[in-house]
Amino acid sequence: MFLTEQQTLEAKIKSFCEANGIPPAALDWKPIPFSGEWGISTSFFATAAAEAKAGKGKGIPVPQRAQEIAEQIAGQMNVPGIRRVEAVKGYLNIYFDTAEYARRAVDAILEQGPDYGRGAPQGERVMVEYAQPNTHHSFHIGHARNVILGEALARLVEFAGFETIRASYPGDLGLGVVTVLWAYDKFYKGQEPQGVHERGQWLLKIYVEATALLEPKENETPEEKAQREAYEAERREMYRKWDAGDPYVRQLWQMTREWSLEELRDILHLLDVKIDVWFFESEVDEPAKQIVEELIARGIADDERPTGGPVIVKIDEKLGLTKEKYRTNVILRADGTTLYLTKDLALAKVKFEKYGVDRSIYVVDIRQSLHFQQAFAILRLMGFPQAEKCYHLGYGFVSLPEGAMSARRGRVVLFKDVVDDAVRRALAVESDKSPELSDDKRRQVALQIGLGALVYSMLAVDNNRDMVFDVDQALSFDGRTGPYIQNAHVRANSILRKAGKIPEQAAFNYELTPHEVNLIDLLARFPDVVQQAANEYRPLVMANYAYDLANAFHSFYHSVPVLQSDSESLRAARLRLVAATRAVLANALALLGITAPEVM
Ligand code: ARG
Repeated sequence: MFLTEQQTLEAKIKSFCEANGIPPAALDWKPIPFSGEWGISTSFFATAAAEAKAGKGKGIPVPQRAQEIAEQIAGQMNVPGIRRVEAVKGYLNIYFDTAEYARRAVDAILEQGPDYGRGAPQGERVMVEYAQPNTHHSFHIGHARNVILGEALARLVEFAGFETIRASYPGDLGLGVVTVLWAYDKFYKGQEPQGVHERGQWLLKIYVEATALLEPKENETPEEKAQREAYEAERREMYRKWDAGDPYVRQLWQMTREWSLEELRDILHLLDVKIDVWFFESEVDEPAKQIVEELIARGIADDERPTGGPVIVKIDEKLGLTKEKYRTNVILRADGTTLYLTKDLALAKVKFEKYGVDRSIYVVDIRQSLHFQQAFAILRLMGFPQAEKCYHLGYGFVSLPEGAMSARRGRVVLFKDVVDDAVRRALAVESDKSPELSDDKRRQVALQIGLGALVYSMLAVDNNRDMVFDVDQALSFDGRTGPYIQNAHVRANSILRKAGKIPEQAAFNYELTPHEVNLIDLLARFPDVVQQAANEYRPLVMANYAYDLANAFHSFYHSVPVLQSDSESLRAARLRLVAATRAVLANALALLGITAPEVM
């Protein structure tokens, strides 16, 4: 915000150093937290250290020399817009004029609006892979955590300045899938429920039934055992046919897979997620086999097939590690089939080569952490420079208050059910709050609030931590919740609506209340928060920020008059501050994937 002043300062510091034979070192400016005034500060430790290293100093300790430099520089700094300068313990603290700072902060926000906080282009292309559940299943609340986190991350890195590609990679093959195909074909052939979610959920029901039939029971009679073994043989045969590309089985597979994908697409649409590229596990199976050959030829993999073994990569040995870290990995079974890991190598290659990705993020269950470390290590062995910029954003397990979810047992909380419940609850609250809304509008707002609650409840937990999904807690509208933040936006909006017009300009040359200081402080920090959340791959940083900002605004709202301000100029300044807050709340919510409603 004080970029021009900062540049003037830097130029002065540079010429001071030159004049005094001090080698220049990079300056790291940090904002000074408000304590009566705003400012920025930098230290001169690096400068003093560089000087000592060049053998130019006076041989005094670095901290002492840093303070000396800071003092000398402080004496030479008069720059318009800067109120005062001080040298403390090797730091140079620069303080701005408070009214000027506040005005510039608010002006910048209102000028840039939805672009306020957007980072300059970083010149790198990022792919974020998420929303990749296995097919032939229904979408449950654990999958929702994945999509919500992935979307927030994609929005953050995109806004921070990375060119961003959103990718999905559903698992559409394997024993689980074949189990459903077998049971469908045997017991339900030709049937098909109406409705996108009904079909998806039906697949889950079939899967649960099939698993029960195929599982050994306690005290099994010989007849039961024979029956189960017969089923097992049929399933094996189904798998073999799928593998061999049998047209009937493939068609059955395509049809049922499409039911799952339709449900997935519907949910993504609801969450406003637009996937750019769809990869499927089944599509990288063949390329994965080629990679195995390539790795053998390049001496990265060892082929033990001649002695009846698999193809393996001794990662630690090839990387020259003496301690066990990545272990040895099978990349092709003795029977010639590829593994999950092998397919990930093929997938990464496509991402790098076909899509030109510089940085690759995988939003996947934290329990796959070793898998990704191994995959990235092999990519390094393969010589992909992007391997250094592969990142696994893991997230903890989602369980229910009554225990772990289990698709096999059919004990899952379906996402669609939670959303329906959320809308019902939001409708009930709204009907008393705003009876004047039309039915359509009311439904629309209920969906925004219900989803806001659900999405925020998922983002407010550190991604590394497991979470217990409690519906009442997730759909609560009070306290640290999505609707609490949405409500701050609605309040700001209603003040502005009553005011009619936002004044074109305003000066902040009055004694700011602590509430205003706090708000301005947070608003000015937003661009840094965007960068931090994106660079650390942590949507939680933005989730916390959005709450803090809403909280600051609610306090302001309760204690500081805006429309009833004592003077016209005070009213103008506060209206602009409210408008700036509304804009930043909207931006923060958008980055979390939460709608900012106008009314609620
Ligand atoms: N479909 C997998 C699962 O549900 C997740 C895929 C993760 N992505 C990857 N590139 N391996 O566990």
